[in-house]
Amino acid sequence: MKIPPVKGTRDFYPELMRVRNFIIDGWKAVSLRNGFEEYDGPIFELLKMYQIKSGDEIAEQLFNLVDRGGRELAIRPEITPTLARMVNQQINSLPRPIKWFSVPRLCRAERPQKGRLREFFQWNVDIIGVDDVLADAEVIFTAVDYLREVGLKEGDILVKISSRKMLAEILLSIGVGQEQFDSVYAVLDKRSKMPAEAFEEMLVGCISDSGKRAKVIEVMAVESLEQISSIIEVDEKLTTAIDEVQRLFELLSVMGIAEFCQFDIGIVRGLAYYTGIVYEIYDKKAELRAIGGGGRYDNLLKQFGGPDVTATGFGMGDCVLGILLEEKGLLKAASVGGAIDYFVAYADGQYQNKAVEITAKLRGKGLKVNFSYKGGNLGKQLKQASSQGAGASIIVGQEIENGQLAVKDMHSGEQKVVGVEEFWASL
Ligand code: HAM
Repeated sequence: MKIPPVKGTRDFYPELMRVRNFIIDGWKAVSLRNGFEEYDGPIFELLKMYQIKSGDEIAEQLFNLVDRGGRELAIRPEITPTLARMVNQQINSLPRPIKWFSVPRLCRAERPQKGRLREFFQWNVDIIGVDDVLADAEVIFTAVDYLREVGLKEGDILVKISSRKMLAEILLSIGVGQEQFDSVYAVLDKRSKMPAEAFEEMLVGCISDSGKRAKVIEVMAVESLEQISSIIEVDEKLTTAIDEVQRLFELLSVMGIAEFCQFDIGIVRGLAYYTGIVYEIYDKKAELRAIGGGGRYDNLLKQFGGPDVTATGFGMGDCVLGILLEEKGLLKAASVGGAIDYFVAYADGQYQNKAVEITAKLRGKGLKVNFSYKGGNLGKQLKQASSQGAGASIIVGQEIENGQLAVKDMHSGEQKVVGVEEFWASL
């Protein structure tokens, strides 16, 4: 009986594994150069942790299980709750600000589709303990820094930015109560993913007054911060929230990434814990799902029983990113992995030991080396060397009796007989 793989998962054959490593190595390198330190947590946690403040959508996508002791657990669908739990646990001894990153493997029981799977990797970059929009700017910069590093340009990607703090003030001024926020946010977050009529119908479910609904729809159509004041009465709190978004754009400009960023009031985010600046990163043609998303979540640590410490950060998955990099021809560096320095061939079975000895010695010098297991036809062995991308082949044959080896440059095809001593000295 052949066992099929589980729906929404991937088998990382070496070719795909190279792509995964290429993406993850880049994430790690860029995190480090932006001053973030790596952390990780367990792949499963107590189920209730995800039910506190992540929101219904993610809670419905959990893979959960009951352990032998009857504890209800869930495989992590995101790492932000784990981060909040871990930071709370050692809040008094951790030097602040906390600038941490992680690349967890996550699972969500979503409907698998282009760019969305049931198991994926997600780069997380978070700053904890900095109540300044400068921290939001720095995490956005880190995301763009990576995307630029792998070769994406202003014309390829866009960070769409808004603010929940601002949206909250707008909703209050329209007369939508705070207790309705979670459900209104969940509906607003889906606006760009559905037809206008369906969206308006969903909105009826959380705002019954048609006048207020119309106002919300009108606000959600603004294209600039300035336009807001022509629709809504701007009080002091709303001014503060708008100023904060403006300050963010100023910082992004100072950091040289303004071209990658745009205000978009439609960005609300699906997770319930965001409290301030929010953003999502998209391919500029808007053909794919979000490449990444994040924002400020100032109350999560407190809601997890910790002190009142602010936080901001983002998550970026490997799936949509991989599709975009492939489309733009930016995965070439990842496709030529696995090439070896030397392939050791031998003309006859009696030279096998010598070939193995040379292989071991070369490997001991830190070189990537393979050898033929079977020996036999030299032409076939050299074909194998080519298919493994060897830079050169060493052929152990009769010359070895006189202390000599044949070395074939696999690029030029040139073959030379050299003394064994000379060969080792040349390395
Ligand atoms: P999220 O928007 O749920 O945020 O996920 C962030 C990114 O993870 C998405 O934009 C997407 O690239 C990737 N992603 C999510 N679900 C899937 C999936 N099923 N398959 C493939 N990729 C996926 C969060 O998870 C927040 N915890 C991020 C964050 C960190 N906020 C603050 N700090």
